[in-house]
This record gives sequence, C-alpha cells and structure tokens, in this order.
Amino acid sequence: MSYKQDFPIFKTYPQLAYLDNSATTQKPQAVLDAMNNYYATSCANVHRGVHLLSDLSTTAFDQSKEKIATFFGAKNHELIITRNATEALNGIAYGWASYNLHAEDVILVSLMEHHANIVPWQELSKRNHTKLVFINLTADGQIDLADFENKLNTFKEKIKLVSLIHVSNTLGTLNPIGEIVTLIKKYKINCRIAIDGAQSAPHLKINFSKMGVDFYAFSGHKMLGPMGVGGLLVKEELLQSEEMKPWLFGGGMIESVYQDQTIFNSDLSERFVAGTPDVASVVGLAAACDYLEKIGMDKIEDHERQLTNYALQELSKIPEIKIIGPLDPEKRLSSVAFVYDGVHAHDVAQVLNQDEVAVRSGHHCTMPLHLSCGWVATVRASFSVYSTTEDIDKLILALKKVKTIFK
Ligand code: ALA
Repeated sequence: MSYKQDFPIFKTYPQLAYLDNSATTQKPQAVLDAMNNYYATSCANVHRGVHLLSDLSTTAFDQSKEKIATFFGAKNHELIITRNATEALNGIAYGWASYNLHAEDVILVSLMEHHANIVPWQELSKRNHTKLVFINLTADGQIDLADFENKLNTFKEKIKLVSLIHVSNTLGTLNPIGEIVTLIKKYKINCRIAIDGAQSAPHLKINFSKMGVDFYAFSGHKMLGPMGVGGLLVKEELLQSEEMKPWLFGGGMIESVYQDQTIFNSDLSERFVAGTPDVASVVGLAAACDYLEKIGMDKIEDHERQLTNYALQELSKIPEIKIIGPLDPEKRLSSVAFVYDGVHAHDVAQVLNQDEVAVRSGHHCTMPLHLSCGWVATVRASFSVYSTTEDIDKLILALKKVKTIFK
C-alpha cells in the first residue's frame, strides 16, 4: 500500500525517501485543502463576534476540536489545544505541578525521555524544590521494570508524578503503559501519570478514556497535521476539581474581568484558550485525524510494524551498523536508529542525502540517553503511513556507499 499520491511533497520530490517522520510528517492534500478552505471561506476570530464569519469560524473551531478529542477517545472538554507536545508538557508543569508539588516531592521519568519531558521538571525543581528521579533502562533500551519497582518502593508517597514517553523517539521502544499503571497501583502510589504521546499518536490507536493515565500530550505535525498545533488531554476530574489550572491568561478564557479580580469561563475547555487560537491549524489537524481514521489506525500500525521489521532485518545485514533499542520487533514501533562504526552520524546522513534519503542524525533531543549509552550521535530512519519498503531499500543502498567513502 502506498499513500504517497495523497501528499503533494512527493510530486515535488518524486525520488525522495523521506525517513524523518519522527521529526515531522508530510501533509496530505486533504489537510492543506481544509486549512485553505477555512481561510478562504470562514476566517474570523472565534467565540467573540455575532457576525456570519465569526459564527462560521467558531463552528469550524468547535467541530474540529470535538473531532480531535474523539480521535483520541477523550471528551471534548478534556482536550486543551496547545502548540505541540512540548507546550502540553510545560502546561502540566505550570498548570498542575506548580500548584500541587512541593519541596522533596518526586517526579519519576525514564532515561529515554525526550528533553521536553526532562527540562520542564528541572525548571520546576528550581521553583518548587521537587526532585527529578530517572528510571534505568535495560541493555536493549526498555524501561527496567525491576528498577521502576525499586524506585516506587524507595520513594513511595513522595512520588507525585510519573511522566513517561509512550514510544521513544530515539530507541523506538514502545513502553508498556498498562503494565506501568498496574505497578503504580500495586504499590498504592497516589500519583498522577503523564504520557508523552508525541511518537505514539501518529502510529497507534489511542483511547485516553481507557489508558488509566491523567495526562497525554501530543503534537499535530507528527501525525500529518500542520505545525504549531497539538494538545494536552487531561482527565475530567482534574479539570472539574480545578486541580489543573490554566497557565496562560488573557482574553477569551474569562467570564468577566473587574479592576481587582477575574471570573474565569466556567466551560472546562474554553478556560484554557487565552487569546486567539490557531483556528486554521486546528481545522487542519481535524482533517489529519479524518485522513488517518479513513485508513484506520490498526492498519497503519500493521503497515509500520512491517516496515520496522523489514528495516531491522536489512540494517542488521550491514556489519558496520549497530542497531539501538529493542531487537524484538514487538517491543518497538515506527523507527530504527543506529550507530555506524567509525563514521559520525552527521556524515552518514550527508551521504544518504546525496541519494535523496532523508534521515535524522544527532542526539534527537535525548542527550541524557545518548550520554548514558556513550553514543556521540545516532542516525534514525523513521516511518509514516506513506513510507514503503522501496524507501528502506533506497536507504540500505545508500548506506552501502558510506563504507566506500569513509574507509
Ligand atoms: N522530537 C523530534 C524528533 O525526535 C523533533 O526528531
């Protein structure tokens, strides 16, 4: 199956093997059309005017938001629109942790976290004197569940948040969220659970209502949507009890403002929309959800699993390559990263670029992981719905040139 014909970028670059999908995906015509159509027919500010265009724009925004929430198995008011997953994770830090976490409280993350799930907690600890504790990984790049249990046991009621990446953007590891939630319950830890879903939302059917977690962060641009829009899913009870508060303030999210105080919008969702939202991008993201749903997330997962297995199999035939992350295909999803013996990752990526193969090289915003494993930099090939085995064949062919150039 190939969906490349739906993506205009491949008309511009017909030979391109675009394997940098964990960084961002290309956009289907349907998303571009939806955004263009919004600006051409319905552009006005939302939730503010009584005129026709304001009404059309408000309807487009509200319906799109509803669509996105449904796509993730969440209630409409459980979705807070953000610019991306990074802003969503910062939203947890500012809107929840700042108010609820205090000196010596522990936040547990794993060593495979993306910087977006590390830096906000380091900054929080400067304000609230909380502690950031890292869970170790196994030799093949999975969360070490024995170490996790050990840390649950050691820090017990001090643990207030467990915040984990769902699919590692570097190792490709698919973390067992269900098992992790069960362990937290087993040890009777009364904490909140946050999931960085930036790399799972594009590849897996997510059902927030059944995940057993309190927060789920995602980015639209990694799931065929436009850049600049993403979301934070928050459990209804946290919003209703106001345990989770807005972290941006201004127009749009208020009921009334007086010189000495403000009454905030009682609508659980609108309370989080300060200022004019990026309506066109929300419309575009809803179109991306439609596009993904039409194909079917199960089918997409299957397709990408096959590609991942094929890439693992072909890459492992090149003696200079050491694949990182789990070798068991069941334990990973949608990307394969590796070290090329004796050649820097950027040099490898440059050789590939000459043959129109686009990969990411570097630390992939996971410096603590790279440092702990002793990797200076790695090369990553990552897949999306439109990726094909031919793309991987092109990658392998181009990789075979690296040896002739650098040795
Ligand atoms: N987090 C993105 C990546 O892994 C940017 O490439």
